[in-house]
Amino acid sequence: MIAAIGAVASNGMLGLDGWLPWDIPEELAYFERTVAGAALVIGRLTYESMDVVPPDSFVVSRQPGLSLRPGCVRVDSVEAGLRAATATGKDVFVIGGASIYEAAWPYCQRFYLTRIEMPFAGDTLFPESIPLAAWHLVSEERQTYRERKSGRDVLCRFLQYEQDNPRPLR
Ligand SMILES: NC(=O)c1ccc[n+]([C@@H]2O[C@H](COP(=O)([O-])OP(=O)(O)OC[C@H]3O[C@@H](n4cnc5c(N)ncnc54)[C@H](OP(=O)(O)O)[C@@H]3O)[C@@H](O)[C@H]2O)c1
Repeated sequence: MIAAIGAVASNGMLGLDGWLPWDIPEELAYFERTVAGAALVIGRLTYESMDVVPPDSFVVSRQPGLSLRPGCVRVDSVEAGLRAATATGKDVFVIGGASIYEAAWPYCQRFYLTRIEMPFAGDTLFPESIPLAAWHLVSEERQTYRERKSGRDVLCRFLQYEQDNPRPLR
């Protein structure tokens, strides 16, 4: 199955200065648990922000000479990344950033989206073009965690959306 996973603040922000706008370790742990063992499709900027990148990570970039860490492979389009990730036989997760979600969503059967019910300053928005409102909400869990930068408690809604007829990969 091809799925996407991400988190978004109540004002639509998903990124700040090449990282996340918030500091919620439990949300990050949920992400790591969910994608463990999967093949990943990653935008080049998101890849550069990650300390640890697992094997079978496909990094989308238009730079032919891009040097990557062991276990990572450059692909020149989102579709090429999805094909290569699918060929591993593992589950496939698209992990962002915004430009990659925007190109990959038609191929995704499922979108794991954490809605963080607080506005955050940021510089990257979750793409409005992704029509999640038309997808089926198949799962929702709620947890309240301490956000470390603000010191405030924040409600996190762990949602799973599905779309009926994802675009087939060619
Ligand atoms: N909240 C979340 O769940 C979440 C998840 C992931 C990332 N983020 C945040 O999002 C921000 C980064 O997102 P972003 O959208 O700016 O960057 P990004 O999607 O991570 O990476 C953008 C880069 O990917 C390559 N690329 C994008 N579309 C392409 C295409 N169609 N064909 C070939 N290459 C393509 C280009 O690389 P080249 O320039 O090398 O050609 C482009 O510069 C960061 O702040 C990150 O922390 C948040």
